[in-house]
Amino acid sequence: MILYKNDIAKLNEIITSHTKVFVLLDENTEKFCLQIINSIDLLKSNTIKIVIPSGEQNKNIETVQYIWSRLVENHADRKSLLINIGGGMVTDIGGFAASCYQRGIDFINVPTTLLGLIDAAVGGKTGIDFQGLKNQIGVFSQPLAVVILFEFLETLHKRELLSGLAEIIKYGFIVDKVFLEARLQNSPVNPVNPVLIKKAIEVKDEITCQDTTEHGRRKILNFGHTVGHALETYLLDNHQEIRHGEGVALGIVSALYLSEKYCNLSHDITLYYKDIYSKNFNRFDLTKIPVDDLMEIMRHDKKNEGGDIRFVLIEDIGKPVYDVVVKPEDVVDSITYLIDYLNDADYWGK
Ligand SMILES: NC(=O)c1ccc[n+]([C@@H]2O[C@H](COP(=O)([O-])OP(=O)(O)OC[C@H]3O[C@@H](n4cnc5c(N)ncnc54)[C@H](O)[C@@H]3O)[C@@H](O)[C@H]2O)c1
Repeated sequence: MILYKNDIAKLNEIITSHTKVFVLLDENTEKFCLQIINSIDLLKSNTIKIVIPSGEQNKNIETVQYIWSRLVENHADRKSLLINIGGGMVTDIGGFAASCYQRGIDFINVPTTLLGLIDAAVGGKTGIDFQGLKNQIGVFSQPLAVVILFEFLETLHKRELLSGLAEIIKYGFIVDKVFLEARLQNSPVNPVNPVLIKKAIEVKDEITCQDTTEHGRRKILNFGHTVGHALETYLLDNHQEIRHGEGVALGIVSALYLSEKYCNLSHDITLYYKDIYSKNFNRFDLTKIPVDDLMEIMRHDKKNEGGDIRFVLIEDIGKPVYDVVVKPEDVVDSITYLIDYLNDADYWGK
């Protein structure tokens, strides 16, 4: 259930039907978001705070153990509620912790990042990273509600907004070109466009409600994610900065290259996206990236079956195909293509 600001009465009805209410925050959402929540009287009941360290490197089993310990020491029972207030890191880990605690307690997601709003908080994927692999452990488990408030975006760092923008652009390629605003190609855009954000939430909700456990059409949401996740995993393991959406934005370049090869996608669409990328996103230097390591990470991708590496590709804008088995040598070529693009002075004016 998606709730907006004018549905707060409904939210309080849900909250008061529980015995104890726990609020999960990371150190930044405690600092920036709690005051917004208090100012609009979002949480009328007494709550018990659980604060975890921020960042993807903390989306791990140790943090889950800490959450469970806090629930145990505060006598959380099966009618307790966990409200996850944060970006995708908090909603992923909080949803997972809640879904396992006493075989599952209710949880609500209150996303505070753009990426959280339009993607991570909606759809019921929960989980943590394990042994250097992203989201390796987790369960599908639906939140009771997702509460959408645009106010949180005001304190968000520009780089986090761009990370969300990447996922909005992804919806443009796989679902509806309305997400590909004309301005994207010409100049940097303001990622906070409430109309597009609401539409993106609807799209994610609609696709994930039809296919809750990702056996079919939901897979299209992974467009750009095969190479994107591998880059994110490798760079984070090697203590280099990258946001989830930045990985996806890079991964889309490789996915478009492969779409040309496997699905006859017009090269013009790849050129169009490269213009969008260079006007809006960071130029990463991937020259030294060990492609063999990326390939090894991709072999563990959850979308694979029987040892094949599978991609979501597109035949055209709005025409995705999933479960495309791609030959390893073509995956390597798609990464080389991405690296060459990032080194191509024509796009970057240097
Ligand atoms: N479950 C899903 O379907 C799904 C989908 C996409 C991504 N994800 C996951 O989401 C995670 C990425 O989410 P994210 O990009 O939101 O990152 P994040 O949760 O790590 O948040 C990014 C940073 O912004 C800070 N922050 C959050 N809200 C803030 C606010 N309002 N003001 C100031 N700072 C704020 C956080 O503390 C953090 O430092 C990844 O772990 C990814 O795997 C999950």
